[in-house]
Amino acid sequence: MNNAEQFIQNRLQQRADKGILRTLSSTEFPIDFSSNDYLGFARSSELKKHTASALTHLTDYKNGATGSRLLSGNHAFTEETERGIAVFHHAEAGLIFNSGYDANVGLISSLAQRGDTIISDELIHASLIDGARLSHANRYTFKHNDLHQLEAKLKIARGNVYVLTESVYSMDGDIAPLAEISKLCVQYQAHLIVDEAHALGIFGAFGSGLVQMLGLENMVFARIVTFGKALGCHGAIVLGSTNLRAYLINFARSFVYTTAAPIHSIATIHSAYQILAKTDHTVQIKSKIALYLDLVRKSNVRTIPSTSAIQTVLYNNSIAAKEAAQTLQNKGLDIRAILSPTVAEGKERLRICLHLFNSDQEIEMLVNELKTLKHE
Ligand SMILES: Cc1ncc(COP(=O)(O)O)c(C=O)c1O
Repeated sequence: MNNAEQFIQNRLQQRADKGILRTLSSTEFPIDFSSNDYLGFARSSELKKHTASALTHLTDYKNGATGSRLLSGNHAFTEETERGIAVFHHAEAGLIFNSGYDANVGLISSLAQRGDTIISDELIHASLIDGARLSHANRYTFKHNDLHQLEAKLKIARGNVYVLTESVYSMDGDIAPLAEISKLCVQYQAHLIVDEAHALGIFGAFGSGLVQMLGLENMVFARIVTFGKALGCHGAIVLGSTNLRAYLINFARSFVYTTAAPIHSIATIHSAYQILAKTDHTVQIKSKIALYLDLVRKSNVRTIPSTSAIQTVLYNNSIAAKEAAQTLQNKGLDIRAILSPTVAEGKERLRICLHLFNSDQEIEMLVNELKTLKHE
C-alpha cells in the first residue's frame, strides 16, 4: 500500500473506531422527518407542471448550460429570474450560484481581504467557514448568539468588518437575534451577512425569510438564500446591492470558474418562487411546528429550544444518537442521527425536520415514539 492509501485507510479507521464513519445510504423510510423539503416542493406535482410549462416557453433550450455564465452559459431567463427573486426579497439585486455552498464560499472569500476582519457565530455553516478560510482576512468567532462576545470582537476588529450569521441555525434550529446583531453592526460600522437557508419558506410573509419578517432588509449587507431546502430544488442566490452583484461576477471564483446551472434548473427555481409568492404557507407550517412543540413539551425529551421547522433531540454520545435513530427508522420514521464533527462531541442528536405534508397523526406518532426512547 502506498503512503497516500495508508493515510486514507488510517483516517477512515479512526472514524470507524469512534463510530462516526460517514457512509452513503439510499435506504428510504416511509415517513419523512429528515429532509429539508419543508413545504413539500421537492415532491410537488404542481411545481413539476409549472416547470414543464416554463420550459415550453423557452424554445431551443439546451440540456446543459455549455459554459460559465461569463462565457456561453448565461441566459436572459436566468437574469430575469434573478431580478424577480430580488424583487420578492426586497433586495436591489441578486446573483444565482450553483449551490449554497458555492454562494457562501464565493461571497466570503472574494469579499474579505487581507487586513479585513470576519466575525462569525461559532455555529455557522461549513460553507461560510470555508469561505472565510479561503479569504486572507483575520477571523474571530463568538459564542453562539452571544451579543456581548460579538461586541467585544467588534471592538478589536480592523479593516472592513464582516459579521456572519445564519437566521435559522441548520443543526440547532434556533434563530439568531438579528435585530440586535444588526444594531451592533451599525454601531461598529460592520457589514452583516445573513444565511437564510433554513428561514426561507418558514418565516416572513410568504416565507420570504427572517430578515424580511423583521424589516431588516436595509440593515443587512448581503443575504444568502438557498433553493435546496424549502424550495425543493437546487442552487442559491446572493442578495445585495447592484455593485455587489457586479463585484461577484468579477471576483467570486465559485461563480466565474464553473459551468452555469442548466436552464431546466433555473426554470424550476423560477417556478418555485411563483408558487411561493402565490400562497402563504407559513401559517400551516407553523401549526405543524406548534403541534410538535406542544406534544414534546409534555415529555422528557432533551431539546434545543426552537420555533423553526428544525427540531432536535440531544444525546451525549454518537452511539446513543445512532441507536435512537435506528429504533425510529425501524418504525418507518425517517430520522437521522447527526454526529461529530458535524456537531460538537457530546452534542450528538437526532435532527427532526417538520414538513407541511406531515399529518398530525404522523407527528403524534413521532412524539409517542420519542417518549419511549431512553433519554439520560
Ligand atoms: C445554513 C446553510 N447554508 C448553506 C448551505 C449549503 O447550501 P447547498 O446545500 O445549496 O449547497 C446549507 C446546506 O447544507 C446550510 O444548511
